[in-house]
Amino acid sequence: MPDLAALKHRFSRLFGWPRRTRPIALQAAAPREVVLHRAILDAFPAPVLLLDARRTVIEANRAAHELFGARMINYDLAQSLRHPAALDAASAALSAGKAMSTQIVLQSSVARHYELHAMPVEQIEGAQVRAVLVLLDVTASHQVEQMRADFVANVSHELRSPLAALTGFVETLKGPAKNDEVARQRFLDIMEVEAKRMARLIDDLLSLSRVEANEHVRPKGQIKIGELLASACATLEHRAAKREVEIELSCPDHLPAIAGDQDQLAEVFHNLLDNALKYGPPGKPVKITVQKVDRIPEIGGKGVRICVQNQGEPIAAEHIPRLTERFYRADKARSRDMGGTGLGLAIVKHIINRHRGRLMIESNAETGTIFSVFLSEFQPEQPAVNFTMADVTKL
Ligand SMILES: Nc1ncnc2c1ncn2[C@@H]1O[C@H](COP(=O)(O)OP(=O)(O)OP(=O)(O)O)[C@@H](O)[C@H]1O
Ligand SMILES: [Mg+2]
Repeated sequence: MPDLAALKHRFSRLFGWPRRTRPIALQAAAPREVVLHRAILDAFPAPVLLLDARRTVIEANRAAHELFGARMINYDLAQSLRHPAALDAASAALSAGKAMSTQIVLQSSVARHYELHAMPVEQIEGAQVRAVLVLLDVTASHQVEQMRADFVANVSHELRSPLAALTGFVETLKGPAKNDEVARQRFLDIMEVEAKRMARLIDDLLSLSRVEANEHVRPKGQIKIGELLASACATLEHRAAKREVEIELSCPDHLPAIAGDQDQLAEVFHNLLDNALKYGPPGKPVKITVQKVDRIPEIGGKGVRICVQNQGEPIAAEHIPRLTERFYRADKARSRDMGGTGLGLAIVKHIINRHRGRLMIESNAETGTIFSVFLSEFQPEQPAVNFTMADVTKL
């Protein structure tokens, strides 16, 4: 929240409006000053409107014209800003002479949130300006706040169901099933599954926040992608065998090294393979193919493409762009039954972002589902240029 007094003071100075100690009327400004004030006003990225005592707009900067269009000068504010709370704030600033602020949402193609500040300007002889209106676009922080609230709601929701199951079974075991050996064993098994689900959820949340924390730091490691994929296949071999799925890895020799973080990339392919095994039909192979690419789509530069492909029901097109959102599941019941937390692909996306790579998802009846990961070739860092004193004297 900006300091209103400071903002008002800044504007008073900006337009040469009066401060108690040095009253300067706008009209009294020399033409050069007027030009300067206009330039400063136009350079200010937020819409600024100057109002007279009757709420008529007498000046507006470029950002205000971009937002409200050209026809606003010499019209009532209501002509350009048809928002009751905004008009009330402006009128109150004019009549009560007090700074007012309010939050408004303006609908254009998308809704944008603004913090509107209406600041009265001291009355001086000959000057028409009575109030300044500034609109600060707070859409981005509003979205962040919304995401935070959704995230907390989602996490609580995900934890609530296993917790409710655990509490329910504990009560049953203490009461009606106290002496029922068979029921006890069955309930304990379910409780174990639910407790493990909660533990996995917490692990995944921690993993996600770790990845997010260092997303801006580019990984420096040099990765042999073939070896990394072979080891990911080996860890999931047992699970694949249970579903009678064969994992086929086809990786050409002489691939370039990849720039990356070994543990994080292992997590990417573990999650993608885990999904392919979980959501692909039993008995049908899961294929991993690796190829060199001369240009990574959208990003550019040489690299490799790793495709993880499974057969089975394609994912409906409307789900595909949302799969990497936290807790998003195409088939909620199925994912939960399989013990999924809905965070796997969110983690994958953040890790790939950190690697400045790309993730592409295709799904149709012919090819099945293919998750393609593009990663950049490792580039040795350019050695820093070191000057010796001898070099300097040569110059
Ligand atoms: N290979 C796939 N085939 C079909 N659907 C998939 C595939 N991979 C992911 N999905 C869909 O995308 C959703 C999100 O996947 P994600 O990996 O993020 O979560 P999850 O598998 O449900 O849980 P987790 O990975 O945290 O255990 C899944 O619930 C599933 O609906
Ligand atoms: Mg998953």
